[in-house]
Amino acid sequence: MSVDLSVEFCGVKLENPFILAPSPSTDQLERLIQAFDAGWAGAVLKTVAVDSSIVSRVFPLVMSIDQSGAFIGLQNIDLVSEHSVEEVEQTVRTLKKRYPNKIVIPSIMANTKDDWQSLAKRFVNAGADIIECSIWFPHGAEWGLCATAQEPVGTEQIARWVKEVAGNVPVVIKLSAQDSDIIATAVAVERSGADGVCAINTIKSITGVNLDTLIPYPNVAGLSTYGGLSGPALKPIALRCTAEIAQKVDLDIASSGGITTWQDAAEFLLLGASSLQICTAVLRYGYGIIAELRLGLGNWMEEKGFQSLAEVIGRSLPYLVEHSQLPRGIQFVSQIRAEVCDGCGTCVTACLTGGNDAIIWRDGLPQVIMNKCIGCGICRSMCSVKAINLVRPSLK
Ligand SMILES: Cc1cc2nc3c(=O)[nH]c(=O)nc-3n(C[C@H](O)[C@H](O)[C@H](O)COP(=O)(O)O)c2cc1C
Repeated sequence: MSVDLSVEFCGVKLENPFILAPSPSTDQLERLIQAFDAGWAGAVLKTVAVDSSIVSRVFPLVMSIDQSGAFIGLQNIDLVSEHSVEEVEQTVRTLKKRYPNKIVIPSIMANTKDDWQSLAKRFVNAGADIIECSIWFPHGAEWGLCATAQEPVGTEQIARWVKEVAGNVPVVIKLSAQDSDIIATAVAVERSGADGVCAINTIKSITGVNLDTLIPYPNVAGLSTYGGLSGPALKPIALRCTAEIAQKVDLDIASSGGITTWQDAAEFLLLGASSLQICTAVLRYGYGIIAELRLGLGNWMEEKGFQSLAEVIGRSLPYLVEHSQLPRGIQFVSQIRAEVCDGCGTCVTACLTGGNDAIIWRDGLPQVIMNKCIGCGICRSMCSVKAINLVRPSLK
């Protein structure tokens, strides 16, 4: 692999775009050492508050969200780090001494100007490369460690406070897609003079309900609560936020939300991310996934003729337009590949309930009535064996 995976994020050089997102996998020094040795470019440490001792974690901490046996997401009810600020400062010092080229990013959370500024100053002094501000956490705001909702005015204020004391150390604000308008908040962050945003944090959710006990998941000794959704289910929302921020705001973006494979990584970069924060995939597959992420991304870049990430970042944004700007009057029709079709009939149902009735049964297989098909794509989306293509009638 000869392509260069290094990238600049908020003026800081990363050896590759892959950073560990804050979670239990970034809360122990020995684990971080293992991750850095495996090839991660850096880590955002588990969020720390001035007085973490006022929160107490409960278990189980996470629940998987599965659909038809496939893992589609994770819900967590984790809170901030149980380490003291002194312990996290020491972790920053140790990591920076041992790995001067890796990027160490403390994540801080506070409720008052004094606390935001004292935490930021302490970590700048400890040698942080970047300070990330976790302005609220979707499922834990009631603990009083941070704001109870993300909104532009308060976020801008926090960003200004931290920027005021951070000196040359870049400041990144971690945003949520849950409250307010994430774009309005990102614009407010830009106004504050902060250097970047991380998009997105988890989204408040409920995993499901146990139909025997009637208790929602996760069951914590008979009771449950709301949690934060992460993993593949979050990816489409995180992609949208990345692209929309990239199109409307002049800030560096660290994307977070459902990045599992090198293909996911490439998609986020193409939509404007200049660094990638990964959590759930690391909890599921281990720190070792970094090898595959780097190799896969590098090979794809080489195949596409990209020499550097600067050529990749934001490359797909010009194709994203408003709905009214999409081309009109171009006809597509469905084409069923008989050699792939398993005759399950899902497309017949989908076409009928989708309002068309353009697919009928003929000789035991579904067949498209060309002059009735409007090319809506519902049959293609529902076909589990991928037997349907949309084609231009003239190209059939
Ligand atoms: C168990 C767990 C703990 C987390 N703790 C934090 C945290 O302390 N601070 C924070 O900003 N985000 C935290 N997150 C959110 C992740 O950093 C990340 O933004 C989110 O999970 C989306 O990325 P993913 O889909 O790769 O997991 C946590 C996520 C999980 C699953």
